[in-house]
Amino acid sequence: MTYQAVKIADRVYWVGAIDWTLRDFHGYATGRGSTYNAYLILADKITLIDTVKAGFEYEMLARIASVVEPEKISYIISDHAEMDHTGALLTTMERVKPEAVFASAMGVKTLAGQFHGDSGIRAVKDGERLSLGDLTLTFMETRMIHWPDSMFSYLPEEKLLFSQDGFGMHLASLERFADEIPSHVIEYEAARYYANILLPFGTRIAKVLDKLEQSGILPEIIAPDHGPVWRKDIGWIVGKYREWIERRPKRKAVIVFDTMWGSTEKMARAISEGLREAGVSVSYLPLKTCDRADLATEILDAAALIAGSPTLNDGLFPTMADALTYLKGLKPSHLLGAIFGSHGWNGTGADEIRKYFDDMKIDLIAEPLKVNWVPVWGEGNDDERGMN
Ligand code: FEO
Repeated sequence: MTYQAVKIADRVYWVGAIDWTLRDFHGYATGRGSTYNAYLILADKITLIDTVKAGFEYEMLARIASVVEPEKISYIISDHAEMDHTGALLTTMERVKPEAVFASAMGVKTLAGQFHGDSGIRAVKDGERLSLGDLTLTFMETRMIHWPDSMFSYLPEEKLLFSQDGFGMHLASLERFADEIPSHVIEYEAARYYANILLPFGTRIAKVLDKLEQSGILPEIIAPDHGPVWRKDIGWIVGKYREWIERRPKRKAVIVFDTMWGSTEKMARAISEGLREAGVSVSYLPLKTCDRADLATEILDAAALIAGSPTLNDGLFPTMADALTYLKGLKPSHLLGAIFGSHGWNGTGADEIRKYFDDMKIDLIAEPLKVNWVPVWGEGNDDERGMN
């Protein structure tokens, strides 16, 4: 017994790799691992869509070999040049010796940079069709979903859209279809992926969705480069993308903070209780137990961000600097904000948060709440927990 391909359409097989132990994807904590999806089209010209991360070549080639000898592949398409999909491209090219490898123009340029020279990869244009003999692929540029080189490939005969990072999620599983996995897992991991990977590119994604609709492309299968394939839930995931792009926040606030001697934590707890009294749902994120990817995920449907930090060495607590630097890069929009923190002899921790909020264009609902030393709240109970 060895790795097997999984049929996802009459003429298409999943031949990717499962990374069960991945726990960090460029700074995004991936608690459920991931998959690097590659797909094999059994056309006259046998075609491989994307490859896998370096180190997973054997698994991909074994899955291909369960269907067809890898040397029979004529074409390789690189829909996305990021290394989780191209780390194995050169070794695959050396093994398979395909007639041609195709990528977008930006993909050719990006891969030349990564591979230190021209690897003979050919550029295809937006809207270009490639005959595979008895089947056809159409390419669609999708810049910044997730990199400038990114493109979708569409196989009209199977109504199958290869969407690389789009509609993906970091989720290692043996099930290959989203409808085979508990819906709460799918909903959480799809949202976490969008928040941590695609959040800055909502406007571009909206244009791609519009373009798909206008061009009459109505895929019955969407095959992303991470996580499960969509076949029964396409309306649901496309609707979710529309919702996330349009920003439809709930009556929800995210409280993110760290604490040094428990005083900023006391403030966070008081704020959370106050919000609950006011009927606001709270996502409570102490950075000793949560991380930056949790923050990005929780922001996706929140109306407000409330951030707290003690002052350490005249500045921000390091975990807060980490989380806010990460969040700033994801360009969240339309958030209201509030800032709090405890300090001893100066309150620059809260001031540092304000700089991040200004950069993220988060509107403050009030001046930062700074408490000198220990706040008066929850006396008694907290003493027992050693917070004072
Ligand atoms: Fe899955 Fe942008 O790489």
